[in-house]
Amino acid sequence: MNNNFTLAPRVFIETYGCQMNVNDSEVVLSILGKAGYAVCDSAQDASLILINTCAIRDNAEQRILGRLDHYRLQKKSRPGLIVGVLGCMAERLKEQLLAHPAVDLVAGPDAYRDLPRLIAALSATGEKQINTLLSHEETYGDISPLRLDPNGVSAYISIMRGCNNVCSYCVVPYTRGAERSRDFESILREGREAIAAGYKELILLGQNVDSYRFGEVDFARLMAMVAELDPTVRVRFSTSHPKDIKDELLHTMAAYPNICRHIHLPVQSGSNAVLERMRRRHTREWYLERVARIREIMPDCSITTDVIAGFCGETEADFEDTLELFRQVKFDAAFMFQYSERPGTLAARHYSDDVPPEVKTERLSRIIALQNELSAESNRRDVGKCFEVLVEGFSKRSDADLMGRTSQNKACVFPAAGHHKGEYVTVRVLDSTPATLLCEVVE
Ligand code: SAH
Ligand code: SF4
Ligand code: F3S
Repeated sequence: MNNNFTLAPRVFIETYGCQMNVNDSEVVLSILGKAGYAVCDSAQDASLILINTCAIRDNAEQRILGRLDHYRLQKKSRPGLIVGVLGCMAERLKEQLLAHPAVDLVAGPDAYRDLPRLIAALSATGEKQINTLLSHEETYGDISPLRLDPNGVSAYISIMRGCNNVCSYCVVPYTRGAERSRDFESILREGREAIAAGYKELILLGQNVDSYRFGEVDFARLMAMVAELDPTVRVRFSTSHPKDIKDELLHTMAAYPNICRHIHLPVQSGSNAVLERMRRRHTREWYLERVARIREIMPDCSITTDVIAGFCGETEADFEDTLELFRQVKFDAAFMFQYSERPGTLAARHYSDDVPPEVKTERLSRIIALQNELSAESNRRDVGKCFEVLVEGFSKRSDADLMGRTSQNKACVFPAAGHHKGEYVTVRVLDSTPATLLCEVVE
């Protein structure tokens, strides 16, 4: 709409990276909403365009530089358009990003409360503005995120920020700062608000949820409190760290049917030598013991993982250890990456990025091929079984079908037949692909 006579300036936000970044964008929109901005869902209609960025791998940053080039051209025909860069890449590159011709404003992950002031200063002086201060306290605990999908089914709730682990490959501790846990009262308040707004699933987020602690409340206790908000609302969480995940959490999960039977437990490598260089502070044996414990306490729990192929010094034998660990655990799904050196990290400073790119690519494709088989097997094991799924919307392929997830986080597709988004439906699995369970509704 070009002839909109509203006086409110309009903001559009584009988000890259993890779920936590999506939730951060919701916090940013809430802050700007209070400052008088109207949110619009197209960059074309906006007077302020924000790009919430990710720095986890080089290809993530390249993609964002591409977007900035796009906006540099846009600005030529749209005088007055403000472009701001937020998030992890903003924090990592600071003034370097501010110097980009498309960029008017740079704000790091702990500087979002300062956005209205930065924008006002930019408008008043015409000078580019930057705030990349990291904080030890900021959790945005009192800010109710402006949900990006207000008719949605799942609501993200960040329970902590930052990370105190120094996995040697990882940029997050530098871009997000020190770990801090959010006041549990504000988490519960946000959960209640989301439930009142009709959300059916709460997804608790943190880089290492197992180290959540606020006063006497640890992660297992927090999960129990969130699960008790409403037994008809599901609770999920991400990410667990194999070195920190406790039996107590597993018992809490088992005790509440509305806590989903899914643990995302990034392993990164199956080789102890590589894990040591990665500073993961867990071994292959420790990881396998944690997996065994999860399955002992919750036999129906799915386990998914993240893995990096081609980390510094990874030999063919190291990589085969990773493949073997995958075969042994039989992950239900995995996110798989090739190692991308991040400037300033321990690995960049201490190890040489010595696995040739073509070997990284070849290893990545081998592990993807293996996981495809494992995912297919995992899904085949579900054929004939019944599951309660939470409907998320239409299936990608057809409006005659719905997609809903099982507690294990598997996507099920089934005929819509009068059912709708946000509803729980019991389905029976008739057939499967590596990515989807094909189901019928059980009346
Ligand atoms: N906090 C989570 C993950 C955060 S980042 C954890 O500890 O597991 C998400 C995933 O990106 C990581 O699990 C890792 O597999 C991958 N990743 C992180 N840094 C990377 C790098 N430099 N190159 C390639 N993949 C990386
Ligand atoms: Fe990065 Fe490790 Fe922290 Fe995860 S736990 S965010 S991989 S440093
Ligand atoms: Fe990316 Fe930052 Fe998340 S680097 S993965 S947006 S914490």
